[in-house]
Amino acid sequence: MIRLNENYLKLQSSYLFSEISKRVALFQKENPGKEIIRLGIGDVTRALPKACIEAFHKATDEMADDATFRGYGPEQGYDFLREAIAREDFQARGAEINADEVFVSDGAKCDTGNIQELFAGDIRIAIPDPVYPVYIDTNVMAGRTGNYNDGRYEGVVYLDCTRENHFVPELPKETVDLIYLCFPNNPTGATITKTELEKWVDYAKKNKSLIIYDAAYEEFIRDEELPRSIFEIKDAREVAIESRSYSKTAGFTGTRCAYTVIPKECMVYDASCGKHPLHGFWNRRHTTKFNGVSYPVQRAAEATYSEEGKKQVKELSNYYLENAKLIRQAVTGLCLACTGGENSPYIWVDSLRDSWEFFSMLLTEAGVVTTPGAGFGRCGQGFIRISAFNSRANVEKALARIKEALK
Ligand SMILES: Cc1ncc(COP(=O)(O)O)c(C=O)c1O
Repeated sequence: MIRLNENYLKLQSSYLFSEISKRVALFQKENPGKEIIRLGIGDVTRALPKACIEAFHKATDEMADDATFRGYGPEQGYDFLREAIAREDFQARGAEINADEVFVSDGAKCDTGNIQELFAGDIRIAIPDPVYPVYIDTNVMAGRTGNYNDGRYEGVVYLDCTRENHFVPELPKETVDLIYLCFPNNPTGATITKTELEKWVDYAKKNKSLIIYDAAYEEFIRDEELPRSIFEIKDAREVAIESRSYSKTAGFTGTRCAYTVIPKECMVYDASCGKHPLHGFWNRRHTTKFNGVSYPVQRAAEATYSEEGKKQVKELSNYYLENAKLIRQAVTGLCLACTGGENSPYIWVDSLRDSWEFFSMLLTEAGVVTTPGAGFGRCGQGFIRISAFNSRANVEKALARIKEALK
């Protein structure tokens, strides 16, 4: 008899986005003429940068000729991309990362979801609340939690992100082994300072913990004082790994390319406290379960580091950041407090009422779709997330409608 991994029975159905779709569909049915503007989902709307498309085309042409055709590539990624990443994303900012510590993949979602399988089943995990759901759900699937009760899984150390702590969690009081951090944050848009990040690195060193640092939105940082990588923090190489993605940086959500950095000093411990470099285990997993990102996609990703590519990527993120600024201004003008939107494409708005109630009001009165914060965790109750990923025209129209609705 084929038996189920019963941890899957503990999972909550992906209530958030299905409930949003249901409510939007109902509204559309009842208001067939009304145009809906979607500022809910975190998907980009603008085309790939020209430099990426040119590299993509060129690499596709290489695949059409026996002399330049490529079959299976190295699972970890081609050297041309790994070297560009190490040089441009890390060494250029004083972070000591080498090309052979970079593992190219098809998504930060996959990497942040898959990495947990390298760790023992009974480790203590610390998860922010509100959170990008992948971190918690993959640990539930692996059996690292108890049942779901009152909005939370038993056995998890939740890191509350609240107004009071400016959505940057405090260190846990207890000892935890695996810590998920994401800055700039999805969903709150909050950022972390070097001083605050140092505290996490110190904590991890003291407790022999590991930090999974998700920097998928790093491109949106404009404040030069903020760290773009955890590896800008002293000793982070011993206790942290970092995932990044071209999805939001360069519009690759449908093209798929990302990477995770595992420094050689980063250790994992066996039951007898013997230490082992994590790098080798991730390499083993990656080469066993993954066959690499396609050659044209890696060439397209590499093009983000050319002079033209860098300019175009910046232009793209500036565009969304300008949307974010307009959203922030409009929200603040309506006397609603918000965070994010300055070094992040997400604006986290204090709705002064139940998240779903505010969501429904914006949908029915303004025809604008946002994301209720309650769907990201208990601490998200009372907030909504507004995404800056849309055209300027749609953002302006949506804001005008919201202002009218809240008059
Ligand atoms: C925090 C965070 N990490 C990772 C991802 C997924 O990135 P990718 O498209 O590379 O899988 C997202 C996408 O929304 C995200 O918000």
